Amino acid sequence: MNEVTRQIPGYNYGEPAVARSPVTLEQLQNLKVSAGFTAEDEHYLHLAGPVLAEQVERIVKHWRANIIAGIPHLARHSRNLDGSPNPDYLARSNRRFEQWILDTCLRPYDQEWLDYQQEIALRHTSIRKNQTDGVRSTAYVPYGDIVAFVAVMNETMKDYLAAKGHGSDEVIRMHRAWCKSLHLQMALWAKAYMDTGEASRDF
Ligand code: HEM
Repeated sequence: MNEVTRQIPGYNYGEPAVARSPVTLEQLQNLKVSAGFTAEDEHYLHLAGPVLAEQVERIVKHWRANIIAGIPHLARHSRNLDGSPNPDYLARSNRRFEQWILDTCLRPYDQEWLDYQQEIALRHTSIRKNQTDGVRSTAYVPYGDIVAFVAVMNETMKDYLAAKGHGSDEVIRMHRAWCKSLHLQMALWAKAYMDTGEASRDF
C-alpha cells in the first residue's frame, strides 16, 4: 500500500504530522457497538476493497464531477474564493478521496486510522482546510452538508459494489458494512467539528 500511496500529494497516513485523535481506541470500540459494527462488517469491507479498487476514480468522479459540481453551495468548497474553478485543488483532493475509499475498506481501524480520521475531518474545517494544497478557498465545509452527502454516497455505492458479479446477498452485506463505517466516521468527525464550533454554524 505504501508504494502506491506515497505518490499521492498530501496523503500522509501514519506520518508524524497527522493530527492526533481525541477519541481513544476504547471509545472507538464503544462506538462500533453503538453502530452495530461487527467482525462480519469488517469481513465484508475487506471483500468490498478489491471490488472497489479499480473503480475508485469513477466513483469519486461520480460524486464530485457529476453531483457536487452541479450544486453551487457544495461546489464552491473546491473552487477559488471568487468562485472560479481550481482544477489542481480538485484533482489533488480527488486522489486522496479515492485512497480514502480503499482505506475505509482495507485499513485496520486502529490508532493510525483514528488519527487519520481526525486529520481528514480537520481538513474539512478551518483548522486545516486549504493548507494541504496551499489554496485560497472556503474556510470550511459545513458539517450538515457532509452528513447529508453521506446519503448520496451510500446510495450511489450500491451499483459499484454489485459491479464485479457478487451475489445479491454479498452485495447487500458489503453495502451494509460500508454504510455502518460511514456512520462511524461521521460520529468521529462530529467531535472535530464540535471542537471548532463549526458544527453549529451554517449547519
Ligand atoms: C458536501 C460534502 C462534501 C464536500 C463539499 C467536501 C469537500 C471537500 C474538500 C473541499 C476537500 C479538500 C480539503 C482540503 O482543502 O484539504 C475534501 C477532501 C476530502 N474529503 Fe470531502 N467533502 C464533502 C464530504 C465528504 C465526505 C462525506 C467524505 C467522507 C465521508 C469526504 C472525504 C474527503 C476526503 C477523504 C478528502 C481528502 C482529505 C485529505 O486527505 O486532505 N468528504 N472534501
